Amino acid sequence: MATGRDIENRGHITGFKEEISKAASSSDNDFFTWFDSARDKEAAFIKGSWDFMQHIAYPSLKFLTGQEDKVALEIGHGGGRLLAAASPYFKSVIGVDIHENNQLVEDELKMRGINNFQLIKTKGSDIPVNNASIDFVYSFIVLQHVETLNIFKEYLKEAGRVLKPGGIAVIYFGRKKMLSGKTSSRALYFIDKIAERFLLLKGFHELPAKVNVTNLIISLSYAKSLAKNNGLEILADLVSYKKGQNDKIIFGGQNGLLLRRI
Ligand SMILES: C[S@@+](CC[C@H](N)C(=O)[O-])C[C@H]1O[C@@H](n2cnc3c(N)ncnc32)[C@H](O)[C@@H]1O
Repeated sequence: MATGRDIENRGHITGFKEEISKAASSSDNDFFTWFDSARDKEAAFIKGSWDFMQHIAYPSLKFLTGQEDKVALEIGHGGGRLLAAASPYFKSVIGVDIHENNQLVEDELKMRGINNFQLIKTKGSDIPVNNASIDFVYSFIVLQHVETLNIFKEYLKEAGRVLKPGGIAVIYFGRKKMLSGKTSSRALYFIDKIAERFLLLKGFHELPAKVNVTNLIISLSYAKSLAKNNGLEILADLVSYKKGQNDKIIFGGQNGLLLRRI
């Protein structure tokens, strides 16, 4: 069953490339707000700092030391809002993505005075960098959009391959939200966390929906077993959240894992 308005039949990689290119040919604002809706480009980069701090940096802080000499890599960098936020804290940051519009991202990051970055194109499940060359891998609002579990598995394998021993990964993916989709109730989130074990009997559900909506949901327990198979130790469970009305925090649509390369 699709969750989007139409069932996607282009395949998510072609779909993403086409929609992102359309936004790029429309306007600068349309491109930079496409990846995570925002009022305008500036708001997208401000929200990017918030997301990077809350969802990526804060959970991993106690495991990170000497970041100024280290290399971070983002799977699915989109318009670069998270790379921009990460760049002051690392020697360099690398983004890998499938889209064809990296020139816009490069120009924007340079315009913001950021030069310690590299953008690399992926075919959609590979991280084209050397083995054990990366200290920190992260991915946010990307892996719930891929349409097959196999792509998720490949990225976990790639994360295990490119991370140095002791390197850290923060990986978010789609979650089954029954009761806690639009709530700040920890109790409801906890119930969903237990319920997904029974509702996702195979451990995952592929939903070939529209581009940029949820195509893949995975239970935490299944994602953990896949991570362990790729030499990644589980450090913590994570969940995404958003600011709702009156700045209240509400649970989002992703679970995540904080991982360490053994
Ligand atoms: C919703 S955007 C998020 C971008 C960025 N992570 C952020 O938070 O601003 C999803 C991004 O994932 C990329 N993407 C989709 N499928 C991918 C895949 N198989 N491999 C790498 N990137 C992918 C898309 O091109 C898009 O840039």
